[in-house]
Amino acid sequence: MKMQSRAVHTGDRKRPANNQGTGAAWIPVTTPIYTATSFTYAETSDLDRVMGNEMPGQSYARYNNPTTDALEEVVNDLEGGAGALACGSGMAAIHMAINAALIDRRRVVLAAKLLYGATLSMLTKVFEPAGVEVVFADFDDPDAVGTAIAELRPGAIVMETIANPLLRVPALDKIAQMARAANVPLIVDNTFATPLLVRPLEFGAAMSVHSLTKYLSGHGDVMGGIVVADADHVAPLRNLARTVGFLLGPFESYLAMRGVKTFPMRMERHCANACKVASWLATHPAVERVNFPSDPKHPDADNIRRVFAPGLYGGMVSFEVKGADRAAIFQFMNALRMIVPGTSLGDVHSLMLYPAMASHRDLSPKHRERLGIRDNLVRLSVGIEDTEDITADLDRALRLHV
Ligand SMILES: Cc1ncc(COP(=O)(O)O)c(C=O)c1O
Repeated sequence: MKMQSRAVHTGDRKRPANNQGTGAAWIPVTTPIYTATSFTYAETSDLDRVMGNEMPGQSYARYNNPTTDALEEVVNDLEGGAGALACGSGMAAIHMAINAALIDRRRVVLAAKLLYGATLSMLTKVFEPAGVEVVFADFDDPDAVGTAIAELRPGAIVMETIANPLLRVPALDKIAQMARAANVPLIVDNTFATPLLVRPLEFGAAMSVHSLTKYLSGHGDVMGGIVVADADHVAPLRNLARTVGFLLGPFESYLAMRGVKTFPMRMERHCANACKVASWLATHPAVERVNFPSDPKHPDADNIRRVFAPGLYGGMVSFEVKGADRAAIFQFMNALRMIVPGTSLGDVHSLMLYPAMASHRDLSPKHRERLGIRDNLVRLSVGIEDTEDITADLDRALRLHV
């Protein structure tokens, strides 16, 4: 089946409900919320085998539960993995992926310089103090990544498919190939791109990670994360999760799965809307510069052509407002009437974020400047509204500066 159909059906109708011995066994059409924290069997030996991983099944909700299993199944299917683990947040998922990669490997992480701010903070403020060496490299230059892999022999590599917030697109295919050749697991945060645009495991990544909070759920009402892994990393991930207890709960899993059913359709609309809004912004007199992957002059245009599905460029746009400082940006964001100033992305509603205040707040002004995140840069997560309403809202707020 195609992705649109798999998103709707995969994971559901797997478990005939017990009919209590009367009538035919009924099957819920969509996966219910299973709130039970433990599961029992007519034969204790079955519980024993389930707990020993000798037989699939349910035993204790910290290990897995049927609602979360269904969500993991559908996202794993969309990403083309061997298994998935849903966690309490995107950050929890990244934490799990790195820890699973580092089991029995050198405690050295090679990471892209451009990453979501909290991922940078996790690497330097959580992993480094715990004795992991973290080295940052310029992932826009695959040769530099190759040299770093050879010199460092890292235990894991971390990058984003579309780097937040400047929308740079590293050469995932080349980096994944080098990582495979060196037998180093590559972890790719695929939150911005989603499996509709890119499926990192197809290129050779070991794990693809998502903040489920974003496009996959899509309605701004559930926090979660997921790691989709290749065959080598499913067992380490699940064993780790079983012990540390990061598993996503059944209520959130239910909401996320409901979102996943419409994800491909919503994502197509996000992509189409973002293309229109980015082109419109590029001609606006108050806009100094627009970052969007469809731009033929995008510094990574070759990578985008090789790695992305044709005609799909994601729903994220970032742009610099001419001559604006922090106060002027706040004024601009206050003037928006429909677009919501907020700290997330990937929702049905358009959201505007100021990276210096939110996603990259933890970095010093100098660090932001080095990365090219200027004080006049805003990030727009283009929603599924009518684009005429989106551009009218932007225009009214931008005109304060012209
Ligand atoms: C690219 C990216 N990765 C990971 C995360 C973390 O996700 P969560 O907030 O669900 O922990 C975010 C959050 O904004 C993000 O933008």
